[in-house]
Amino acid sequence: MDKTHLVDEITGHRRMRRNRKADWMRRLVQENRLTVDDLIWPIFIVPGSGIVDPIAAMPGVSRMSIDKAVEAVKEASDLGIPAIATFPDIEMELRDETGSNSLVANNLINQTTAAIKKAVPNIGVITDVALDPFTSHGHDGILRDGVIVNDETVDQIVRAAVMQADAGADIIAPSEMMDGRVGAIRRGLDAAGHQNVGIMSYATKFSSGFYGPYREAINTSGLLKGDKNSYYISPANGTEAVRDAALDVEEGADMLMVKPGLAYLDVCWRIKEAFGLPTFAYQVSGEYTQIKAAAMNGWIDGERIMMETLLCFKRAGCDGILTYFAMDVAKKLAKG
Ligand code: PBG
Repeated sequence: MDKTHLVDEITGHRRMRRNRKADWMRRLVQENRLTVDDLIWPIFIVPGSGIVDPIAAMPGVSRMSIDKAVEAVKEASDLGIPAIATFPDIEMELRDETGSNSLVANNLINQTTAAIKKAVPNIGVITDVALDPFTSHGHDGILRDGVIVNDETVDQIVRAAVMQADAGADIIAPSEMMDGRVGAIRRGLDAAGHQNVGIMSYATKFSSGFYGPYREAINTSGLLKGDKNSYYISPANGTEAVRDAALDVEEGADMLMVKPGLAYLDVCWRIKEAFGLPTFAYQVSGEYTQIKAAAMNGWIDGERIMMETLLCFKRAGCDGILTYFAMDVAKKLAKG
């Protein structure tokens, strides 16, 4: 035996590399897998027809009119993607101080849901009830004297949620971080006979710079007055995020979401461990754009990092991921 090596006897008996020695072995011991069933595809909707309008800050992502969105969602469904999440870019003339268009039964978001559920009934439709696409100031709630008023906003989003469910939404996803909203939406949905409509709470939504490209996509970046620090969670706070999620669980959330994703994997893990609810991460616009931009410059292997980041969400305890890469991933997985 060659005694010149420094690896000691104990190490010699515990060689991690034995389980990594061949592809078949690595497949055998793989702990987590990404499948098409893990994907939720967020899409942007504009009024009109025949429109596919590329978003400059999100290469590969476009705003679509309802007809085009229906075609795209059909393709997503054929690829096996279980659900989509819709975000409207509504006309500036329809935006006002209170986001009143959110309470119009056939507004853009509800028309989209109805059209998708009619043409592609087997895909899940997740709608957001935050007011930011509808307000003239870009905030998620009603702004009065410089303050985002909690309870009045909750009353309004409950009514909006019921209308979204009336239009056919399968899951309501409140992203505006008002206190008490999950319980209020649950009661509102139940009172309207929507017991089977679920709630995916954006339980831990952080006040993040990663949302930049999204705000361009729905044209709120130029509107936003101030910041969202009085209702989103500080990136510094993990325990507070768990406490906030606990309230949503008590109030009846069916699923929890962590947003943004990659910089918050510890929070994904903590809330999955704490509550055991189906837990999702939102790989948000800025995360997508970083990967795209670096890949377009030839600085990283974009496809590889797309797959790696999504798999890491699974390792961190997530049951699925909202990602703008959903179609690319589904196509790649279908090829095998
Ligand atoms: C707001 C909302 C945001 C996103 C979706 N809904 C954040 C914000 O603008 O503050 C971000 C999604 C993304 O960045 O991909 N209710």
